[in-house]
Amino acid sequence: MASFSMADLTVVSNGGTKAKGPAEGAAFGLAFTDHMLVIEHAAGSGWGAPVIKPFQNLSLHPSAQVLHYGMSCFEGMKAYKGVDGAPRLFRPQMNMKRFHKSCQRLMLPAFDTEELLKCIEALVKLDKDWLPEGEGSALYIRPFAMNTSAFLNLRPPNHATIVVTLSPSAQFFSTESKGEKLFLNETDVRAWPGGAGEHKLASNYGPTLKPHLEAGKEHGCIMVMFCLPQGPSPEDALISECAGMNVFFLLEKEDGKKELCTPPLDGTILPGVTRESVLELCRSWNEFEVSERNITVSELTTAAQAGRLLEVFGAGTAVTILPVVEIKREKGPDCKCRCECFADMQLTNRLRKTLFDIQLGHVEHEWSIKL
Ligand code: COI
Repeated sequence: MASFSMADLTVVSNGGTKAKGPAEGAAFGLAFTDHMLVIEHAAGSGWGAPVIKPFQNLSLHPSAQVLHYGMSCFEGMKAYKGVDGAPRLFRPQMNMKRFHKSCQRLMLPAFDTEELLKCIEALVKLDKDWLPEGEGSALYIRPFAMNTSAFLNLRPPNHATIVVTLSPSAQFFSTESKGEKLFLNETDVRAWPGGAGEHKLASNYGPTLKPHLEAGKEHGCIMVMFCLPQGPSPEDALISECAGMNVFFLLEKEDGKKELCTPPLDGTILPGVTRESVLELCRSWNEFEVSERNITVSELTTAAQAGRLLEVFGAGTAVTILPVVEIKREKGPDCKCRCECFADMQLTNRLRKTLFDIQLGHVEHEWSIKL
């Protein structure tokens, strides 16, 4: 496969001119570092050399396909300031593979994911002074790819662009909080069988904004959770995921044993890196059953009413692990967890700590890549 290569990378540095504000308290994704990575592909000549250059606006033809047909995909990764001050990436090759799959789904040109990762590492190292301190703070890495071809007809691209930006971000969840609430939207559907919901396409995110805002304004919840209707009764719908994270439920089964479950990767669920890490950690602990299986709204509601919904949390790169104490329903009774407060959520707290310890290098682990 013809790919760009890190060996051809050119760096045009401005020496780092921007003022760095504290990540703590800053809104997610609002501040950006001094530099960005840009790699362009043209049909005749293939991939050009990667360039790191001062952060700047992009220039697009008004007919660029990305502007008309949502021809864009992205990734979310984080670089952490490790205990020794060195930047660390968390399982970055998983993001690279998923990014490549998303690109392929949009018929964007193939590339060598190792080479992209090396270029991203060079960008992070160049802007490493932007790495925020503190548990949960990180440099959020946003690679995205788009079809920048200037034609209005839907055709495979003759021009494509990959861009990577870095944004200092604070912890999403405030530990002052008791725990968050989710709103189960039983009307709008995020993804469906045969669709493209498992890919990280821009088009899977834009339409979630309206239900997400409604969840906040009308129901006082931090995020919307989607489900997939299965028939006439809303109770039969399958729990799906939230606008920006996967979801996990710790249930006490009828026999008193515990089960951690999350919806399976059936094509409608984003294969989250944090999701996979939670599954692998919990399976390695071997203390309770860990299942990737369908969960109906009815099962969730019944478990909550019987006091068997122990803990709920979201898992994603931006949120890491987000403790949830209640799910408000649109078409049925609200579901409260038995753990009413973040402090009581043993598994949620343990997972947050374990992941932060690995990400920051408190514990040496193969998932944490020191640059
Ligand atoms: C991420 O967790 O990286 C995401 O993609 C969430 C994003 C919609 C903010």
